[in-house]
Amino acid sequence: MHRIEGYVIVSSDGMIADASGQMPDAIHNDADQKYFQSGLDQAAVVVHGRHSHEGGLRSAGRKRLVLTRLIATLAPDPAHPNSLLWNPAGCPLEEAIAALGVGDGIVAVIGGTEVFTMFLPFYDAFHLSRAARATIPGGRPVFDEVGPHVTPEDVLARHGLKPGPRRDLDQRAGVTEVTWEREARR
Ligand SMILES: NC(=O)c1ccc[n+]([C@@H]2O[C@H](COP(=O)([O-])OP(=O)(O)OC[C@H]3O[C@@H](n4cnc5c(N)ncnc54)[C@H](OP(=O)(O)O)[C@@H]3O)[C@@H](O)[C@H]2O)c1
Repeated sequence: MHRIEGYVIVSSDGMIADASGQMPDAIHNDADQKYFQSGLDQAAVVVHGRHSHEGGLRSAGRKRLVLTRLIATLAPDPAHPNSLLWNPAGCPLEEAIAALGVGDGIVAVIGGTEVFTMFLPFYDAFHLSRAARATIPGGRPVFDEVGPHVTPEDVLARHGLKPGPRRDLDQRAGVTEVTWEREARR
């Protein structure tokens, strides 16, 4: 019923944030932001962990689920309009989406590490942007398994996703995007 799509920008070493959980400027890119925000505009619901948020002028209008273990199942989210706090251990995704009053459409998963990893068996597509000139030594990986010998691409391939063509989002900055799709569900 719901198509599940991930969105991320990683450094060349597959990191989404530094060791302290901050997203460094080296992986912020305006062209990627435009691509990301346009993608979220197509989504029925945005899903992320309690320390993540896409920001931007249109974010308040989006329906969202914010993962947290501070509650058992579902609860109102005092911090964000149109949002519910969600603990997946106590409430299935489809139930949480129904509680938001959202119909069919795309579920956009936007991190962080544990959330990206949890959805690996379920992605229909994963939009992997890369800032090839940035490295974040000791940073937080996009997926738990990513490390010196395992790339984000290795992990996506292991979970049955196949890469589409690479596109330049910002050639001068060395920022590219590849959409990985689950072949069997095309
Ligand atoms: N480069 C990118 O594209 C990108 C994407 C996303 C995030 N980031 C950056 O990464 C950093 C944050 O990442 P993060 O991994 O630390 O944070 P995060 O996933 O946003 O938040 C972690 C919190 O989410 C909750 N959570 C996560 N998995 C859960 C689960 N399975 N069940 C219930 N609750 C769950 C927990 O909240 P409680 O503590 O409340 O239980 C956990 O402490 C930020 O700097 C953010 O900007 C970058």
